[in-house]
Amino acid sequence: MLKVTNLAKSYPTPRGPLEILSDLSFSLGPGDAASIVGPSGSGKSTLLYILGALEPPTSGTVTVDGVDPFTLAPAELAAFRNRRVGFVFQDHLLLPQCTVLENVLIPTLVGQSDADAPGRARDLLEGVGLADRLDHRPAELSGGERQRVALARALIRQPPLVLCDEPTGNLDHAAGDVVATMLFDLHQRQDTVLVVVTHNTGLAAKCSTRFELVGQRLEQRDTSGIA
Ligand SMILES: Nc1ncnc2c1ncn2[C@@H]1O[C@H](COP(=O)(O)OP(=O)(O)OP(=O)(O)O)[C@@H](O)[C@H]1O
Ligand SMILES: [Mg+2]
Repeated sequence: MLKVTNLAKSYPTPRGPLEILSDLSFSLGPGDAASIVGPSGSGKSTLLYILGALEPPTSGTVTVDGVDPFTLAPAELAAFRNRRVGFVFQDHLLLPQCTVLENVLIPTLVGQSDADAPGRARDLLEGVGLADRLDHRPAELSGGERQRVALARALIRQPPLVLCDEPTGNLDHAAGDVVATMLFDLHQRQDTVLVVVTHNTGLAAKCSTRFELVGQRLEQRDTSGIA
């Protein structure tokens, strides 16, 4: 369960604080998916970074399954990010020197040993249609294939919260649809809370909740009218 209460974010600048987000409150449970749209610079990535405990809010709270990550000591915070959050960055951020299988396994290399991880990684990669690409390096993959590896990496620890920043942003329509379908397939199978920043209408249409960031506020949009 993700719960956001009176969240605000501003960045200090020489001309005073730059307000980005103000008074955001919402909650999402397992199996819920929310899409976020909004103009460039409106704070979508900032919000995802706060939800993923990569950036602290200025005020307000975020809890994941009752835990407020910003109250944790540094080592616990690192473990929280590793165990509870799967993050798909817009430009995938795969390690070029590692194979597909190794990239997916990277989050499992910290903390206590996870003997089942290689099996889960293979299953996930099979699920995203890359079973025959395990030994490839990222440079030997297409853009859509790299995004699918990034998706498998985000899900390898079976996190309750999955955050995606424009996961189909760099892909053409067909490849974007493949990634969107796989994202939702895995979301439904693992019953995650999914928050996805996307302008892909097909992807947004799959979400039970649609948000738009306007003027520092998050407004909920009606989902009944979308295909
Ligand atoms: N560290 C920082 N210091 C000051 N301002 C920042 C910092 N990081 C981001 N900003 C500003 O915060 C605003 C929101 O940035 P953010 O990256 O969240 O936007 P976005 O909605 O994701 O945009 P895009 O659609 O272009 O990715 C921008 O105006 C940006 O310039
Ligand atoms: Mg952004």
